[in-house]
Amino acid sequence: MTITCNVSPASFLVSEGEIHAAIHRQSSLIAAVQRGEAQYSGSLGWLDVKTQNIEELVRVAKHVQSVAEVMIVIGIGGSNRGAVAAIEVLKRTSTSPTTLYFAGDTLSPTRLADALEVLKTKSVVLNVIAKDFNTVEPGITFRMLRSAMQAKYGCAYAERIIVTGSEGSGQLHELAQKHGYTYLPFPSDIGGRFSVLSPVGLFPLAVAGVDIQNLLDGAYTMQQRIRTGQDENNPAILYAVLRSLMRKKGIILESLVTFEPDLQHFTRWWIQLFAETEGKTDQVLFPVGFSYSEDLHAVGQYVQQGPRILMETFLDLHYNLDNLHIEASKEVVDGFAYLDDKPFSLLNKTVYQAALQAHAHDGVPCIELKSDSALDTESLGGLFYFFLFCAYLSARLLGVNPFDQEGVEQYKRNMYAELGKSGYTK
Ligand code: PA5
Repeated sequence: MTITCNVSPASFLVSEGEIHAAIHRQSSLIAAVQRGEAQYSGSLGWLDVKTQNIEELVRVAKHVQSVAEVMIVIGIGGSNRGAVAAIEVLKRTSTSPTTLYFAGDTLSPTRLADALEVLKTKSVVLNVIAKDFNTVEPGITFRMLRSAMQAKYGCAYAERIIVTGSEGSGQLHELAQKHGYTYLPFPSDIGGRFSVLSPVGLFPLAVAGVDIQNLLDGAYTMQQRIRTGQDENNPAILYAVLRSLMRKKGIILESLVTFEPDLQHFTRWWIQLFAETEGKTDQVLFPVGFSYSEDLHAVGQYVQQGPRILMETFLDLHYNLDNLHIEASKEVVDGFAYLDDKPFSLLNKTVYQAALQAHAHDGVPCIELKSDSALDTESLGGLFYFFLFCAYLSARLLGVNPFDQEGVEQYKRNMYAELGKSGYTK
């Protein structure tokens, strides 16, 4: 899959000349990011896609498929959003006997009760995922579901627990060794939001029947495309540099707009990736996302004629479903005869163009990320890698550390203090 970044609808605000001058100015930093900077080597395990061995993941996934109707995936933030996003897109092609159920990303008792009900009524396996097994949401959800598993399966419950975590004291690896759970590594050099193409995201997807090798192949193709060369056609460099210039021109928000509703969780993954990676300076775009056409009838008016604070990134990526045609209506005159005999997919492509033109015409800086392939496993892998790399580069252009999240850690510490964890004070 190739992505093209079309910046011309936004050229009234940021010209192509300005983008190319900025690329030239920043060329040594960009080249260092393409190689992977030594100072971040402890967080760049995701940058080289090809060094993965997925055999063990596939073997464990096959076993899960043979014993469970449902795998409950417990995790939060970077530990679950990638799998949630991917499964929403790829669920239709899955033939797996095992479906995924996501838990542990909220402290809502209602959601916990829902998960307990699933556990009671289905044959279940748990996959708990945490880089640092201290976060309350997944930690306490695991405790509650684990007790229910013990009650349901007796001593054999341990065979139905798979942990994806770090090594070290108090971490999931230690728990796995103590209780005989199956252990999968959360790579030490990959942080949560960069983990979708590691065992963190790949294992649940393998259980759900996704061809994870295909996903990785798509990511690798993208890696080859964007980690070499700084020519004006490198879409990742164009996109990241343009984002940094937009903020300097007074734009505050970037809205990712998609035209396949199945990409809504992908958009949430993208929001988390950019917000946590870059949100460490006031010079940063706040990432938001909308699903059109639906949201054209909710926020479209504001976007088009409200304050000029927002840039729009149109994602031109669709499923390949061209065989649905609109038949002429023989009995009812309904006012839609002008659509007779057209492929239904043409409508989605038309609303894309219509919204882009209307918004750009009214002065919204719009850009397009255009895929040359349909939305499928391979292109999704490419898209994940594209944005992972762009988030890293974009954060470095801002001058921030892409791989920490001190603000989030502070709220976690407040929780620990409030709830009486030893070593934490209010
Ligand atoms: O992207 C990140 O690093 C974070 O969003 C983490 O994934 C999130 O805080 C959950 O962390 P953990 O899996 O260690 O509980």
